[in-house]
Amino acid sequence: MAEDLIIRRATDADAEAISAVIVRALIEVNAADYPIDAIAEFVAGADPAGVRARLAARTVFVAERGGEVVGTAGLEETSSGAALRSLYIRPDRHGEGIGSRLLETVERIAHAHGYRFLAVPSSITGETFYLAHGYARADGPGDDPHVTIPLGKRL
Ligand SMILES: CC(C)(COP(=O)(O)OP(=O)(O)OC[C@H]1O[C@@H](n2cnc3c(N)ncnc32)[C@H](O)[C@@H]1OP(=O)(O)O)[C@@H](O)C(=O)NCCC(=O)NCCS
Repeated sequence: MAEDLIIRRATDADAEAISAVIVRALIEVNAADYPIDAIAEFVAGADPAGVRARLAARTVFVAERGGEVVGTAGLEETSSGAALRSLYIRPDRHGEGIGSRLLETVERIAHAHGYRFLAVPSSITGETFYLAHGYARADGPGDDPHVTIPLGKRL
């Protein structure tokens, strides 16, 4: 039987584990879609200090399976709306439905906070996943178009 999947709010104590998940995904998965210097820059920004800064600025969730942090996602709320940020699953746990559960969690919390649209500045790597979950091209946060693809969905 599959081990239970727990989705919970992240705390500062999760910073190292979240960083490790993001760095593994960047190196093992996203590296297929980005130049190595871009990956190096993303990895540097995903160190525990970078994660702690995001924990202070966003509502961050972790997914735990077998007592380990295996995924993370964040909800960013600004004057221009709600955005999903930094959805990463540990590569050895891809395809188990964890990304879908985290995405649903962020959508539910954004809706509960009064938002009716969720923007996703998607990685090149993640676009197919979001399209399969009802997202489409949209005007999104003004991120570098070489780095992210602006997607969004009505909630
Ligand atoms: C994209 C990502 C978050 C998906 O997480 P996951 O836990 O593997 O996704 P799920 O198991 O919930 O997959 C749901 C569906 O998406 C599909 N899918 C997962 N990753 C995919 C990908 N990279 N491309 C295309 N389809 C993908 C799965 O096949 C599955 O389809 P199915 O239900 O019809 O079988 C994960 O692959 C990841 O961490 N990627 C690297 C980091 C990244 O780019 N994140 C997005 C940042 S914006």
